[in-house]
Amino acid sequence: MRAARATLRAMKTHRIGVIGLGQRIAHVLAAMQEVGWRLNVAGYVDPAPIGMPIVLAHDVAAGKPYASVDALLKDGPFDLVMIGSPNHLHYEHLLAAFAAGNPIFAEKPIVRTEEETFALARHLVDKKTPPLFIGLVMRSMPIVRETIRKVDEGALGELISMDATEHLPPEHGGYLARNWRRKQEWGGSYFLDKVCHDFDIFGRLAKSRPARVASLGGRRIFHSGRENVNRTYSDGMPAYALRDGGWASANDAFHSDMDVTDHQTALVEYDSGFQLSFHANSHVALGERRWYVAGTDGTLIADLVRNKLMFRGALDKAKPERIDYANRTDDSHNGADQAMACDLLATLETGATFPVTPWDSMVAGLTVMAIDRAMEERRMVDCAPMWAEYDLARGAA
Ligand SMILES: NC(=O)c1ccc[n+]([C@@H]2O[C@H](COP(=O)([O-])OP(=O)(O)OC[C@H]3O[C@@H](n4cnc5c(N)ncnc54)[C@H](O)[C@@H]3O)[C@@H](O)[C@H]2O)c1
Repeated sequence: MRAARATLRAMKTHRIGVIGLGQRIAHVLAAMQEVGWRLNVAGYVDPAPIGMPIVLAHDVAAGKPYASVDALLKDGPFDLVMIGSPNHLHYEHLLAAFAAGNPIFAEKPIVRTEEETFALARHLVDKKTPPLFIGLVMRSMPIVRETIRKVDEGALGELISMDATEHLPPEHGGYLARNWRRKQEWGGSYFLDKVCHDFDIFGRLAKSRPARVASLGGRRIFHSGRENVNRTYSDGMPAYALRDGGWASANDAFHSDMDVTDHQTALVEYDSGFQLSFHANSHVALGERRWYVAGTDGTLIADLVRNKLMFRGALDKAKPERIDYANRTDDSHNGADQAMACDLLATLETGATFPVTPWDSMVAGLTVMAIDRAMEERRMVDCAPMWAEYDLARGAA
């Protein structure tokens, strides 16, 4: 984690207001402090701030509780309003924060539905809004930056196809099955909440939008029909119980009202012809987040769990180039939070460009929403009408 430490020290103390002091914003605040931000968290709005023990453990003072978003925002100005509420509240909280006029950091997914995306795009075009930074934290990871750099500089030639995975250990899957993410009305979907990051990067690599998508998925792991589920690890520790389920949580991963998938696959064909297959499972013994990218002139494997990259030119007989970024952390973010905290500080203090825009975030979200629609409707979805509506909303039709 140390490698991500800032080269830049904060020039000023940043006054911060938090909407949704959950585990995520608590970790981001801790990373900000770690890399040298001078923080003055004025306060937070949260009915049950589950991130409080995390900020306290990192010596970040959370400020005072406010009774409502209005009350918090009236107590501005803030140098940054941070939104870390469940996904179904992002749109409402963004609109309130826009009206207050302070710079905003909001967690991904930027919003939860297609309708909210189009409405947000219209809002950004029609109204004057403060700067908005989205926590698509993978954009700040050195291994991801290098992957993008190699593709952009042409080391792989023309991108032809790739496969990608995200496989989670049982405890993480069990948490998703109990936390608010288990419900579409709060989280959106398994893919929207968990892998909009990955689809943001895939679109960035492709430099084009998905033309058509297909997907299969289901809930065959965390459901009450399974009998005699083993709930003890081989070392005697209880399984599916270690993490606090948080806001609106269910007690039992196998007996909840979960209505999102626990495993899913997707096929995407981009406008450029680039093809992608994606496989995600929330209950595996061998965790993996890996991208295998094949171009006309070279092949790249990014192993995001082990934080290792491998590349070789297509006709190269020498050993592959290998980069070990080390810096592995238990959350698999591998220092990305600290790297993003550095990016955000540089943006606010020196005007440096933040690595991802709200527009990128909307494209990533819409991509995943189209994939989920393909799964639900059991058909291949032609994305052109969705992009036409999005372009109309953002005034680019
Ligand atoms: N970028 C990443 O890598 C990453 C990782 C995890 C989560 N996230 C995102 O961060 C957001 C929060 O996720 P989390 O894991 O911290 O969830 P969480 O359950 O730990 O935190 C959510 C918090 O929101 C609070 N909340 C509920 N209703 C609220 C309301 N009306 N007003 C204000 N606060 C309210 C809850 O009490 C809780 O403290 C989600 O959008 C999630 O997708 C991003």
